[in-house]
Amino acid sequence: SDTTPTALRTPIVAVLGHVDHGKTSLLDTIRGSAVSEGEAGAITQHIGATAVPLETISDMAGSLVDPEDFDLPGLLFIDTPGHHSFSTLRSRGGALADIAIVVVDVNDGFQPQTVEAIEILKRTGTPFVVAANKIDTTPGWNPQEGAPIQQTYEAQSSRARSMLDENLYEIIGDLSDNGFSADLYWRVQNFQKNVGVVPSSAMTSEGIPDLLAVLMGLSQRYMKEEMQIDVTGPGAGTVLEVKEERGFGTTLDVVLYDGSIKEGETIVVGGKNDPIVTEVRALLRPRPNAEIRTEKRFERVDEVTAASGVKIAAPDLEDAMAGAPVRVVRDRPVDEVIAEVKREL
Ligand code: GTP
Ligand code: MG
Repeated sequence: SDTTPTALRTPIVAVLGHVDHGKTSLLDTIRGSAVSEGEAGAITQHIGATAVPLETISDMAGSLVDPEDFDLPGLLFIDTPGHHSFSTLRSRGGALADIAIVVVDVNDGFQPQTVEAIEILKRTGTPFVVAANKIDTTPGWNPQEGAPIQQTYEAQSSRARSMLDENLYEIIGDLSDNGFSADLYWRVQNFQKNVGVVPSSAMTSEGIPDLLAVLMGLSQRYMKEEMQIDVTGPGAGTVLEVKEERGFGTTLDVVLYDGSIKEGETIVVGGKNDPIVTEVRALLRPRPNAEIRTEKRFERVDEVTAASGVKIAAPDLEDAMAGAPVRVVRDRPVDEVIAEVKREL
C-alpha cells in the first residue's frame, strides 16, 4: 500500500514555463483531474504539489513504462505559475526540484518566462526535459488519443508533420541559443548532457507516455546517485502556503523534500519575526493524485516521508510565511535548528 515507507526518496519534478503554455493541464491529464478549469482565467497563482504513484504513471504510459523496471514509489510534481508577476514562486519551485519539465506551447515557442525558467534551472543545475505542448493545435492534426509520439506521427499527413517539425526545430534552436544542446528526445543518449524535447498534448494525451517515460528514466538515474539520502532523518521542507483549515486553525501546506516528520514532533518554522518553535498536532496528507491546493479530503497520518506534500496543523502558526523553511528538531538541540532556520530565511 502507499503507506509503506520506502527506502528511496520520491523525486520532485517541477513544472515550469510561460503563462498558458499548459503546465496545469499537463498535470491534470497525468493525474486525471480538472484543476486548470477551476482557476480564475486559467491562471495559476500558487505553487502546487501532487504525489503521482508509480501505478498511475505506468497506467498512463502503457508499454513505455514497465513498473518492474523502477524502484521509485512515484513522482512528486510541483506546479508553478507562469504569469510574469510570480517569479519568486518559480524560483522557489525550481529550488525544490530534482528534475524539471519546461512546458513550451509548440506554436508560441520560447517566451520571456520560458527563458526565465531555463535560467532558474541553469542556476540550480537541475536536469530538465522540454514538453513541446499543444501539438494537437497543429493545422490538419489527426489526433490519436493517448498515443505515444511515434505512433501519432505515423497517423499525420506529411503537411501536418512538417509543420510540427518546423516548430520543434525552432524550440531546439532557442534552447541552443540559451546554452543547451537539445534534440528530439528519442535522439538523446545522455539526458543530463542534452535536453530532450518531448512533443505532447494535454488535450489529447498524445506524447504523455513518452514524457512520463523520460521523467522516470531521468529520475531513476538521478536518484541512483542520491540513494544515500536517508528518508528516516529529521524532516526538512518549505512552506507553500499558510492556510486556515476548519477544525485545525492555521495550517501549513509544506513540501517535505528530505527526511520524515511525525505527529507530536517539535518543528521550527520561519516566521515574520523570530522562528516559530511548535509541536505537530496533525499531519494531513492529500490523497494520491490530488493537488494539495484544491484537496478537500485529507488523510490524517502519523508520519510522512520525503518527498511529499503535507498539511501541518500546529499551534502558533499565525506568523508563518510562505517560502519559509520547516525543520524537524528530533534528536538535535533546538537552538541549533533555530539557527539553521534563521540562516535560510
Ligand atoms: P499558468 O499556470 O497560468 O502559467 O498557465 P498553465 O501553463 O498552467 O496553462 P493551463 O494548463 O492553465 O492551460 C492554459 C490554456 O491552454 C487552457 O485553456 C487549456 O485548456 C489550454 N491547453 C493546455 N494544454 C493544451 C493542449 O495540449 N492543447 C490544447 N489545444 N489546449 C491546451
Ligand atoms: Mg497553471
